This record gives sequence, structure tokens and C-alpha cells, in this order.
Amino acid sequence: MKFKYEIETKDLTKIYHKRSNQTLAVDHINLKIEPGIHGFLGPNGAGKTTTINMLMGAISITEGKAFIKGEKAGSIQARKMIGFLPQDPVFYGNMSATEYLTYSARLFGVKKNKINNQIMNILEFFDLTDDLSKPISKYSGGMKQKVGLASALIHKPKLLILDEPTTNLDPIGRKNIMDYIKKLSNDISIFISSHILSEIEQICEKVTIINNGRIMLTDTIPNVKNYYSHSDDHFILDTNSNSVVLEELIRSEEIVKAWLDDEDHKIHIVHGGKEKLQKLISNLISKQNLIIKSFHQPETSLQDVFIKLMNSEDD
Ligand SMILES: Nc1ncnc2c1ncn2[C@@H]1O[C@H](COP(=O)(O)OP(=O)(O)OP(=O)(O)O)[C@@H](O)[C@H]1O
Ligand SMILES: [Mg+2]
Repeated sequence: MKFKYEIETKDLTKIYHKRSNQTLAVDHINLKIEPGIHGFLGPNGAGKTTTINMLMGAISITEGKAFIKGEKAGSIQARKMIGFLPQDPVFYGNMSATEYLTYSARLFGVKKNKINNQIMNILEFFDLTDDLSKPISKYSGGMKQKVGLASALIHKPKLLILDEPTTNLDPIGRKNIMDYIKKLSNDISIFISSHILSEIEQICEKVTIINNGRIMLTDTIPNVKNYYSHSDDHFILDTNSNSVVLEELIRSEEIVKAWLDDEDHKIHIVHGGKEKLQKLISNLISKQNLIIKSFHQPETSLQDVFIKLMNSEDD
């Protein structure tokens, strides 16, 4: 079948009904996910897991449509193409890693004579060299997550869907899993949800940000940052004598505002003109034997964008 997108949704909507309560968890979202690695971001309760569960066919769709590489979400054809790691994977705790991978391989219809070979390849990829015969319940969080990823890949899927794959891990465990995800993205499309923005920023080409079940924006990371970048008249200066320089700057008429930042301990400057500012700083250098450690415009992080977007929603 001809298809244009890895994942495509048309007005995908989910309403949970519980007794007399109704929750609109996903509200007419339209996704067009191209090959590559795509981040799906949003705060707690934004609707990420609900969307992913509809893509997997794990829960019913209230309204709208969803397709995986052109196949209807939830169909056998669609499911076969996806490797899925849920937010809270449930392992049969007394199974060992090799037993679990064999079980997953059978479940996904890997041919019997290919199972052992496929498990060996995957264990090698994930450097799973620990004692693989002990029960999974005895593994560390990071090991469990590796086994989860390995089992999601056992049938050589064409698309990997990961729902907050690093949530319960410590920073080293997180980095480790993210390195594997990055490596995997060379060969396979990945749709990854997270609220750890710094991680997503490092590995994803594009992101979609959702809040309250609605898409707030979807674009490449540089574009997203550009929309929300700091104003052009903001500079950050770090010298060997910041307090002296700050005093001089505050006295100058060319400077709109200058302050010592509590977090980075550098001088932040809002100026009236870039050339004038550069001239002013050159004068200070020659006058006071200053050493400039850095002088640059602030970088916008995905975290800044996220906070601005969430704040604009509240207004
Ligand atoms: N089974 C359910 N029954 C009723 N409401 C639900 C159910 N699952 C989720 N919700 C509600 O739907 C909304 C979206 O939840 P969802 O779990 O999809 O968000 P999320 O973005 O994955 O959040 P998190 O980052 O915490 O995992 C929330 O308001 C949540 O309380
Ligand atoms: Mg979730």
C-alpha cells in the first residue's frame, strides 16, 4: 500500500467515560509523522499515552482516524510493523531475559528457526551480557528497560513507538538508553514521548508539543526554537571581573538594562544597538585590562519554548 507518513491521524479524539464523568483526553489531533525520529512532548496528563494507545489499537478511538504507514491503526498489518515500549511495561517477573525475548518473538510471529539468531543479535546490540538466566524482577531499572526495548525490536519492526522510555531511570541509565535509541534511529523511524525536554532536544529532528489533548505546535527543533528565541537585543557577557564591568555598563547610556544573573553568574545585557554595545565593551577592555571569557546571545532551549507555550495557554 502506498503511504506518505509513518503515522497519520485525522481528528483523532478520545473521550474517557467513567460513570457520569467524561474526560476529553485527546481532542481532534492531526499528526503527520515523517520518517526519522520524532519527539512527542507534553506535561503530565497532556494526552501522550492516550494517543499512543490509540495508535497501538490498545484502546478504542472515540472519533477520527489513525494510520501506521497507511494501515489502519490497530489492524494486524499495522501492529506487525510497530515495536512498542509502553510507559509502564509489565514483565512476567519470574521469566528470565532470554525466556521473555523468546516469548515475545513467538508472540510476534518470528519464524522458529530465526528466533535464536535474532535474540543473539539483539542481546549483542544492547550489550546485554549480565546473567540472562535470572528472573527479570531481579534486574535493575536500566536493565529492565533494555530488555523491554529488545523485546520491542525482536520482530524487526519498521517503526518504534516509545512512551517515556527513561522516566524511572537515574541520569546514567537515561543517557545509556537514549544512546541506544539514537543508534537505533539510524535504521528505523522512532516516535518517542517524553517530558524530559533536554533529552528530546538531543536526539530528535522534529517535535510535536501537546497540552490538554491538543497539538500546540509541530516543527523541526531549530524552527521551534527560532519562533520563541530571545529578543535580538539580549547578550550575555562573562569576564574576569563581572561586578566592575556591571557597574560601568549600568552607567552607560547605551545600555537599556544590565544585571548579574543568579543562575549563570554572568552579566546579562539588554542594549540599544549591537555596534554600540561592541564598541562599549572594547573600550572597557582597553581601559581595565579585562579578559572576556564569553560574549554571546542566549540560546533558547526546548525547555524555554515549552514553558512559554504552557504559559500562553494559561493566559
Ligand atoms: N483509563 C482512563 N480513564 C479515565 N481517564 C483517563 C484514563 N487514562 C488517562 N485518563 C485521563 O486522560 C488525560 C490524558 O492522560 P494521559 O495518560 O494520556 O496523559 P500523558 O500525557 O501520557 O501523561 P503522563 O506524562 O503523566 O504520562 C488525563 O486527564 C488523564 O487523567
Ligand atoms: Mg503517559
